[in-house]
Amino acid sequence: MKKAVIYDSNTGNTKAMAEAIAEGARESGADVYFTQADQADIEEALSCDVLYLGCPAMGVEMVGDAQTDFCRSVGMRFSGKKVALFGSCAHGEGIWIRGWASKIKAYGGKVVNSPGLICVLHPDETKLEECRSLGRDGFP
Ligand SMILES: Cc1cc2nc3c(=O)[nH]c(=O)nc-3n(C[C@H](O)[C@H](O)[C@H](O)COP(=O)(O)O)c2cc1C
Repeated sequence: MKKAVIYDSNTGNTKAMAEAIAEGARESGADVYFTQADQADIEEALSCDVLYLGCPAMGVEMVGDAQTDFCRSVGMRFSGKKVALFGSCAHGEGIWIRGWASKIKAYGGKVVNSPGLICVLHPDETKLEECRSLGRDGFP
C-alpha cells in the first residue's frame, strides 16, 4: 500500500495534521509520499492507493492556490482514486472543505472521509490521534 500526504499550510496547523496522518500511515505499513502541494509530483501522487489532501480555509472559505492548482492539474485523473481531505480553519464551519469535497467528487474521486477532517487552529493531542487514525485507515 502506498499513501500520499499532500498539504498546504501557512502557519503550520495543517502541516501538523499532515505529519500526524503520515505517522499513522507509516504505522499501517504503507510507503508514504509526503510533500507540500506546490512541490507535488502528479505521477508520484497518482501511483498511490490513497491521497490525503490537506489545506487550511483561506480567502473566504476557499481552498488555497497551491491545492487548487494541484487538483486542477490532476483533474479527471482523480477518477476512481480514494481521497481523504483534511485541514485547519478558524471558525470550524467547514464550508471550504465541503466545497473541495464536491470538486474532487466532480473529478470522479472517492472522498473516503466525506466531507473531511477539520481542526480549529492547531491540533491538540486528541485531534492528532484522529489524524493518525485517518492515516492508519486502509479504506477497503
Ligand atoms: C488570509 C486568511 C484567510 C482565512 N480565511 C478563513 C476562512 O475563510 N475561514 C476560516 O475558518 N478560517 C480562515 N482563516 C484562518 C485559517 O484557516 C487558520 O488560521 C488555519 O489554522 C491556518 O492553517 P495553517 O496553519 O495550516 O495555515 C484564514 C486565515 C488567513 C490568513
